Amino acid sequence: CGIVAYVGEKEAYPIIISGLQKLEYRGYDSAGIALLNGGLNIYKKKGKVKELAELLEKEKEYLHSNIGIGHTRWATHGEPNDTNAHPHYSANKNMAIIHNGIIENYAALKQDLMSKGYKFRSDTDSEVFINLIEHIKNHEQCSLDEAVRLAMTQVVGAYAIVIISKEDSTQLVAARKGSPLVVGVGEGEYFLASDATPIVEHTKKVIYLNDQEIVVIRNGKLQIRTIEDLPITPYIQTLDLELSQIEKGGFPHFTLKEIFEQPKSLRDAMRGRINAEKNHLVLGGLIEYQQKLINADRIIILGCGTSWHAGLVGEYLFEEFARIPVEVEYASEFRYRNPVIREGDVVIAISQSGETADTLAAVELAKSKGAIIFGVCNVVGSSIPRATHAGAYIHAGPEIGVASTKAFTGQITVLTMMALIIGRAKGTITESKFQELITELTTIPDKVEYILHKVDSQIKYIAEEFKGARNFLYLGRGFNFPVALEGALKLKEISYIHAEGYPAAEMKHGPIALIDENMPVVFIAPKDSTYEKIVSNVQEIKARKGRIIAVVNEGDKEIKDLAEFTIEIPQTHEAFSPILTVIPLQLLSYYIATHLVDDVDKPRNLAKSVTVE
Ligand code: G6P
Repeated sequence: CGIVAYVGEKEAYPIIISGLQKLEYRGYDSAGIALLNGGLNIYKKKGKVKELAELLEKEKEYLHSNIGIGHTRWATHGEPNDTNAHPHYSANKNMAIIHNGIIENYAALKQDLMSKGYKFRSDTDSEVFINLIEHIKNHEQCSLDEAVRLAMTQVVGAYAIVIISKEDSTQLVAARKGSPLVVGVGEGEYFLASDATPIVEHTKKVIYLNDQEIVVIRNGKLQIRTIEDLPITPYIQTLDLELSQIEKGGFPHFTLKEIFEQPKSLRDAMRGRINAEKNHLVLGGLIEYQQKLINADRIIILGCGTSWHAGLVGEYLFEEFARIPVEVEYASEFRYRNPVIREGDVVIAISQSGETADTLAAVELAKSKGAIIFGVCNVVGSSIPRATHAGAYIHAGPEIGVASTKAFTGQITVLTMMALIIGRAKGTITESKFQELITELTTIPDKVEYILHKVDSQIKYIAEEFKGARNFLYLGRGFNFPVALEGALKLKEISYIHAEGYPAAEMKHGPIALIDENMPVVFIAPKDSTYEKIVSNVQEIKARKGRIIAVVNEGDKEIKDLAEFTIEIPQTHEAFSPILTVIPLQLLSYYIATHLVDDVDKPRNLAKSVTVE
């Protein structure tokens, strides 16, 4: 979910609505706002922020207020409908809450409040939270922020909340535990939001709230304290983010913009870190703990979704270049087992947003067992980088399309640099090999640029041809097996076509039964050490009349003769090929999706940043 709040001298409504639109990638099942315009009024609706704004267009003249809160929801408790949309009133309607996260013990708290006479209007855990706060406030006769603090000691779960109350039209109270919250500090005005994107156009000064902190803004002053009631001196940072970075820049969708941004985002990932002429490769954020990585007996890579796929590529990279055994784990599985972490184990957590609840919890678990943790994240200042010992940002810039594209290639680039640094230090790659590899790595952004321009119109054509397919199979081997998984995920996410990725050889053990003349099979088959093997797999599909689309290297002959469509990309070192081979697959999903789905940037049911378990 995404939350935005404003208090100051300006009109709150337009600031909140446009802020919610920028946060919609975090969820878009329903949207709502609360304003102090006469009374405390809530306006909310199922559907996207646009629908709420259209509904309110007629009422604009009544929406004057210098304070307000807004929410765009990704449903957890209760179906996405008008009632369950946020904000939620407390029972006496004196205050309202917006909440991102999950209250785990909400059923018990609700029971208790019901026994005290509280009635509930929605099925949400958030309404339980606000009524608990109201109850404490009345019972203890304390301030709102004190009631929030006391409520936090009873609530189990993850949340970021903001509360507005009739009692004071200069006051917002907010708190976080496990879900992100940023305060924007303007001239006589304050903003609160799930991340900085709705804030940057108003102010570059921000405070990232830490877990278990409560912030109260009252009469133009801000105070922060902890759940233990200790005052905190706010640390104000200046953001390095421009508004243009979060606008579409002429592209019809963020997803396409972000695919086309990859030459730049990859250059940015390497900028200042790699210099092939000087044979230089350094990741500044690793240095302090680099020796731990060099000495690691084992690396455990954690992530979810696309980041997990980048982790799988990382497994091949670290084993190839640094000769360290690697395990790649879904963060959600890792944290609920009793994972074995030994001395000498190193954990790498991968996350675009730096906020994914499962990944963050897995990091905390590994840390509590004594592991040294490295982060590979995109969003600067987000929770995972702050929870890790060391790490490297991918510097891809804001990724807004829900389907991850430029973050994936950025993650692989950073993992590649890490593996090369470790390999060089350990001597598992020779100096001359190292020089050759970093020289090749620096050519990758240009090759991506070349591919984007070369294959774009061809892929539009292929997309037209296959938009009616209901299933797809993606097959790859070695470094490109994770790319098969990622290609399938991209298609599923944005076009709603069922797709599966498989290691090409495993295809014989099941998926081959699905092959007939209607089944498109996408092969990722650059000329690498597994090429001859994959040619045999192509033949096996051909023999069963499957429709073959293959990503191959320029000059390929064997697969070209067998496939219905071949998409040609330039050669590179096999270990770097995922960054190139995934590009046509991203475009293929995007163009197929444009035929089938209204808003490719916001596919149904998904959210970009999953801050619930
Ligand atoms: C969500 C997104 C995916 C993303 C995954 C992990 O499911 O829709 O695109 O890969 O979360 O997110 P993270 O921010 O941790 O990389």
